[in-house]
Amino acid sequence: MNSLREAARERFGKACRVCKICNGVACAGEVPGMGGLGTGAAFQSNMQALALHRLQQRVVHQVSEPKLSCTIFGQELSMPILGAPIGGIAFNLNDFLPEAEYAAAIVNGCRQAGTLGMTGDGPNPGVFNGGLEAVRLAGGQGIPVLKPRDNEAILEKMQEAAAAGAIAVGMDLDAAALINMTRAGQRVGPKTKEQLAELKRHAPLPFFVKGIMTEADAEACAWAGVDGIVVSNHGGRVLDYTPGTAEVLPEIVEAVDGALTVLVDGGVRSGTDVLKMLALGADAVLIGRPLTVGAVGGAAGVALVLQKMAAELLAAMVMTGTASVEDVTEDILW
Ligand SMILES: Cc1cc2nc3c(=O)[nH]c(=O)nc-3n(C[C@H](O)[C@H](O)[C@H](O)COP(=O)(O)O)c2cc1C
Repeated sequence: MNSLREAARERFGKACRVCKICNGVACAGEVPGMGGLGTGAAFQSNMQALALHRLQQRVVHQVSEPKLSCTIFGQELSMPILGAPIGGIAFNLNDFLPEAEYAAAIVNGCRQAGTLGMTGDGPNPGVFNGGLEAVRLAGGQGIPVLKPRDNEAILEKMQEAAAAGAIAVGMDLDAAALINMTRAGQRVGPKTKEQLAELKRHAPLPFFVKGIMTEADAEACAWAGVDGIVVSNHGGRVLDYTPGTAEVLPEIVEAVDGALTVLVDGGVRSGTDVLKMLALGADAVLIGRPLTVGAVGGAAGVALVLQKMAAELLAAMVMTGTASVEDVTEDILW
């Protein structure tokens, strides 16, 4: 891991300092770049919200081999940890890898670790297409995530995702105000619940909405019948001063009451963080920035970061007497 971090520091240049703790402090306001928008408060809230939770240490029990596997969108995964979509390597990360190679490192690295990686979208068609190609070459073992374009454009790209054999397809609705998409003639915007229902009706694959931060939006997604949501503030990159995702997760889980799959991301840096998110009600988590460091070592580097987190998760489950990731309750929180 240390050699990966040193290599990343060199290859990322000024775009990311590869801090010991990736918390959004040094890079506040660096968008483009790897930081959070504006003051960086939303990125930092993700970290602070997770840090507020503490775990009950329990060692008088019989859980010595906890179960890490789970099923998400009909796919059995070795761990409840997926790779988050990250696009725009050219302008966010010093162009350290061509877009398609970055996507391939994430998708293949996640596969090597027994889980799934997501790919992004952006104004440059190479972002979505590079991701799609990586998913296709991986026999469909990956998940493309689309920007909230016009429904017609989304449905067209969903068909391409289905033709590539993808497991599911997502839409990061929290990219609704991304000016660089609209400037490039690819209009994005918010969607009504009726528009979401239209997407779900015609979606050829399990369809989820990424960027949900309130009960009302989550309920609208459930009304529209979508298969899942990702509780996310886009790593603090789309709106300054949102709460942390760990703060809003429990009320969202309660509001949807099992109607759809609930994933979450934002500031998850260790297996212990993963366990906290599961205790707060998530079915699985996504990892964003830490996997970019892994990607410096290609698919093997990505797999290494995931395996390290899985090992930490396993140890934390033993230390809290948690038998299965599919059955984590908030009782393990102190
Ligand atoms: C440089 C960068 C690019 C991103 N690009 C996308 C994208 O194309 N699509 C998307 O849904 N999310 C995108 N995200 C958000 C991530 O998927 C994820 O929500 C966020 O990074 C999670 O927080 P973490 O990095 O603290 O783990 C991007 C994030 C970063 C840092």
